[in-house]
Amino acid sequence: MRYSVLSGGKRFRPLLLLAAGEYFGASRDRLLPFACAIELIHNYSLIHDDLPSMDDDDFRRGKPSCHKAFGEDIALLAGDSLLTLSFEIMIRAPWPAEQHSCKEKAMQVISRAAGPNGMIEGQFLDISLAPDSLTEDILHRLIRKKTCALIEAAVKAGGILGLAESVQIQALEEYGAGIGSAFQIRDDLLDSQTERKKGAPFRPNYVSFSGVREAERRLHGLVDSSLASLDGAGIRSEELRSLALELKETKKS
Ligand code: IPE
Ligand code: IPE
Ligand code: MG
Ligand code: MG
Repeated sequence: MRYSVLSGGKRFRPLLLLAAGEYFGASRDRLLPFACAIELIHNYSLIHDDLPSMDDDDFRRGKPSCHKAFGEDIALLAGDSLLTLSFEIMIRAPWPAEQHSCKEKAMQVISRAAGPNGMIEGQFLDISLAPDSLTEDILHRLIRKKTCALIEAAVKAGGILGLAESVQIQALEEYGAGIGSAFQIRDDLLDSQTERKKGAPFRPNYVSFSGVREAERRLHGLVDSSLASLDGAGIRSEELRSLALELKETKKS
């Protein structure tokens, strides 16, 4: 568990949760358990995503993936534990009794996004779609579920915990959905610059489907419309703006 979680990673989802929550006035101490929980869920999903029965990836963040370092049995359990621990962390997070409904709502949003109506549906589509069944719509649904769901939930949970108004939460949702899709298209652009392991299973990829130019055009459009959603609701968070704008950088570092 420590090997995977503490091996680097951009911490994009917790940064979003903190940025949204702090913008609306919640303290970092209060938000951190939720930010950490969402990062643990993300890390569990990566450990399982790399397993031989999934994407069969030997490396993650420049190091041997969890199952390469510890075996598949331990990797499965590490993933299971991170997911379970994330809920323990959220439920134990100190929160004022009179705002208990916000904490419950944030946990609902995060659990729904991680589960069978969100990330798991996306992962299911990712491993089960045949190359000739792909359409633009199916690919967008896949991206919305596989990657957007958790990113959108991070931003939205931040707003909920910060007691944002419903129009602001709606705008955060739109922003999250836009940058969530942009994030996966960017990941596909970066993946397309890397050679895949020989014999690796087919996985839908926006760049293979639409080409680099269209993927870049789409990515830029999504980032711009996400920023427009924030502007429309008068949300002037420099952090949320820069987290979105950084997605336009698509050269491998
Ligand atoms: C990779 O996520 C998997 C996707 C959902 C695209 P990240 O790019 O956030 O991975 P880390 O945490 O920074 O390594
Ligand atoms: C991973 O997507 C998405 C989840 C783990 C939910 P990918 O399989 O496209 O991401 P990488 O390229 O392995 O990081
Ligand atoms: Mg995958
Ligand atoms: Mg993968």
